[in-house]
Amino acid sequence: MHPDSDLGPALRYLVPLSAGAPPERLRPVRELSLVDPACGTMHFGLVAFDLLAEMYREELVRAGTPGWPLKASVDTESEIPAAIIENNIFGIDIDLRAVQLSALTLYLKAKRLNKMAKIRDHNLACADVMPFSTADLGRFIIQMRFSNPIFEKMLRRIREQLGDIQQVGSLLRIERELQSLVEEQRRKDEQKRQAKYGTAPGLFAAQDGIEMEAGYYGMLETQLVQALDFFRQQSANEGDDKRFFTGEATKSLRVLDLFLRRYDVVLANPPYMSRRSMNDEMAAFLDTNYPEAKGDLYAAFISRCAELAGETGRVGMITQQSFMFISSYEKLRLGLLQTFAIETMAHTGPHAFPEIQGEKVNTTAFVLRRETDAARRTQNVGTYIRLVHAPDADAKRVAFEQALEALKVIQA
Ligand SMILES: C[S@@+](CC[C@H](N)C(=O)[O-])C[C@H]1O[C@@H](n2cnc3c(N)ncnc32)[C@H](O)[C@@H]1O
Repeated sequence: MHPDSDLGPALRYLVPLSAGAPPERLRPVRELSLVDPACGTMHFGLVAFDLLAEMYREELVRAGTPGWPLKASVDTESEIPAAIIENNIFGIDIDLRAVQLSALTLYLKAKRLNKMAKIRDHNLACADVMPFSTADLGRFIIQMRFSNPIFEKMLRRIREQLGDIQQVGSLLRIERELQSLVEEQRRKDEQKRQAKYGTAPGLFAAQDGIEMEAGYYGMLETQLVQALDFFRQQSANEGDDKRFFTGEATKSLRVLDLFLRRYDVVLANPPYMSRRSMNDEMAAFLDTNYPEAKGDLYAAFISRCAELAGETGRVGMITQQSFMFISSYEKLRLGLLQTFAIETMAHTGPHAFPEIQGEKVNTTAFVLRRETDAARRTQNVGTYIRLVHAPDADAKRVAFEQALEALKVIQA
């Protein structure tokens, strides 16, 4: 939120920070991004939608005044719902039904604000990508005769990354190698462009780092998806069904698009799966890719969410509490403390979810802020609310609300 925003008092569960939030580069609302990498039916995104709508409205009123953008992100209030879906909310899940439901609920939410809203696209992706055949890939590449080698390199690298592992979904760091590949090609293309047209800044010169790659990648992705579509139709005309190959390749490109970005806010209530319940492939995948968090899927998701957070990004999660105490998560804790400041934590403990019985599921909800300034990080004082002794979800909510009131009085 903008530091001069009037929206704070209306946010019932906004935890006051003891030292306030550090200053950040001010950006128009349309540039703020939020992702849930295990979005399910997007409950977090739906709540964020309402706040973002208020932020767009406030910006419309205050744009042009000191400290606010010269021009608002949208020209009229009626453009807000489509702008939120197209610019701000991102989601990924391995469950296709959940992704479809998320798209539908966001669409209905937007239509409720403006029946005439024209929603052109959304930023949701299903990460249940299955390895496609290398023979089909070879045929596609021969048939399309791409002039730019990046297309072939990208698809081959993606296919390698997918390996034979399914169901790792958002934990697959599909962007890691692709990032340097895309960046290298972007640089070559820019050099060629400069040699031809001179040294004026190119299309992506104003952006930086990963955002620049994401912009360039968007262009490549559009062309590849069109080529895949063409290949599917052409094969069908010849009586050859290539829907599986083109479908999975397209899916992987969409997932890659979302993972090439870094976000202002990463939110998740990730899946839990202890090592005992994993199959051998999944356990081996975590051993290799998330050694600091291999004991449970939720812990690997903490690592993954942390890396998706941008330069001053926040990570807000509700997870099992064990990563805070168990010695096997020491590296995970150290890694977090070396990168993030803990802004708030509500340690909810057992019985936080009415539908989960017993003492086994002990949870904690927290917000971390990526903090590159080491002094600010180490001197940070978080706000912690201990709710472990409240016996059920209702009692925890009441205790949380009382703690918030007390904090507001102290800080007034
Ligand atoms: C506890 S639910 C999250 C619910 C969500 N916050 C909502 O609003 O509905 C966990 C979600 O993680 C998804 N999931 C499980 N494994 C995943 C993976 N490896 N990658 C991405 N999503 C995954 C499940 O399909 C499920 O929707």
